Amino acid sequence: EQLLNEVKGISASNAGEIEALRLKYLSKKGEINALMADFRNVPADQKKEVGMKLNELKQTATERINALKEQFSQEDGLNDDVDLTRSPYPISLGTRHPLTIVTNEIIDIFSRMGFILADGPEVEDDLHVFTKMNFAADHPARDMQDTFFVEQNPNDVTKNIILRSHTSSVQARVMETTEPPIRVICPGRVYRNEAITARAHCFFHQVEGLYIDKNVSFTDLKQVLLTFAREMFGADTKIRLRPSYFPFTEPSAEMDISCHICGGKGCGFCKHTGWVEILGCGMVDPNVLEQCGIDSKVYSGYAFGMGVERVTNLKYQVSDLRMFSENDVRFLKEFESAN
Ligand code: PHE
Repeated sequence: EQLLNEVKGISASNAGEIEALRLKYLSKKGEINALMADFRNVPADQKKEVGMKLNELKQTATERINALKEQFSQEDGLNDDVDLTRSPYPISLGTRHPLTIVTNEIIDIFSRMGFILADGPEVEDDLHVFTKMNFAADHPARDMQDTFFVEQNPNDVTKNIILRSHTSSVQARVMETTEPPIRVICPGRVYRNEAITARAHCFFHQVEGLYIDKNVSFTDLKQVLLTFAREMFGADTKIRLRPSYFPFTEPSAEMDISCHICGGKGCGFCKHTGWVEILGCGMVDPNVLEQCGIDSKVYSGYAFGMGVERVTNLKYQVSDLRMFSENDVRFLKEFESAN
């Protein structure tokens, strides 16, 4: 009777304790079996009653212990099928995203030339994205077609809040707050209102660079970009600068590199021209320096900007921009060895 009451009240807080209880009461050498072994000494007239009690005791103990097991496995999400002694499945390691790999590589190359990192907000005001970058108030890039607007100000375009369409906004912020010499690179995500296709996306990534000091010349720019191209695409890479236009640089240029797939001989990849375009650059327009509080009679500088997707496409021959944001593990795994 006493043991029956004891058994009714048992509890346990982990699998080990449950097992201990099972050993104590139900195993071959347990207390209940010991009573069973004594059964033959019970006088014949009491055998029926004692027998029933013993059965009740054994059944109660079994039920209690099974209930405890059940409760425990529910709480821990475990059940009897789980073999806790098995070695675990190996956890497969993730890989860095190709755009991260290439951004880091670009940062690395420019840091070795003395550039430091600068960062700024993706949700920006017009002032830093356009106005201080010498975009006229009616410049088409401010248009709804290119820019995502967060808040439009009916009276003053410079107060519009937008998603930055280039990381030149970070350069504006650095110039506002830093006394030259300035030598920064600004990596980050930018947004443009474009239909999503293999060749365009509504967001992409840039790394822009800015160097401002006394007597900075176009030659300095050219040498830094040549060094970059050789480090990124191989020592025999050639560069070519073509005149171009940006509101914030004068003169401006676009830079091509000799196609590293065919070595400049001409292939389908470079459309048989031997050259592929990779970035825009130029001497910082004196208006930009003045707008950002830098004396353009004392200082000059250069700036450049490239799309990380573009560089990655060229380096790893990815033909569809959408691959970068679909997160298809089969695509991402291809870059395992580049990690
Ligand atoms: N901001 C330009 C773009 O987004 C790139 C650029 C940067 C060009 C600096 C020239 C100088 O396309």
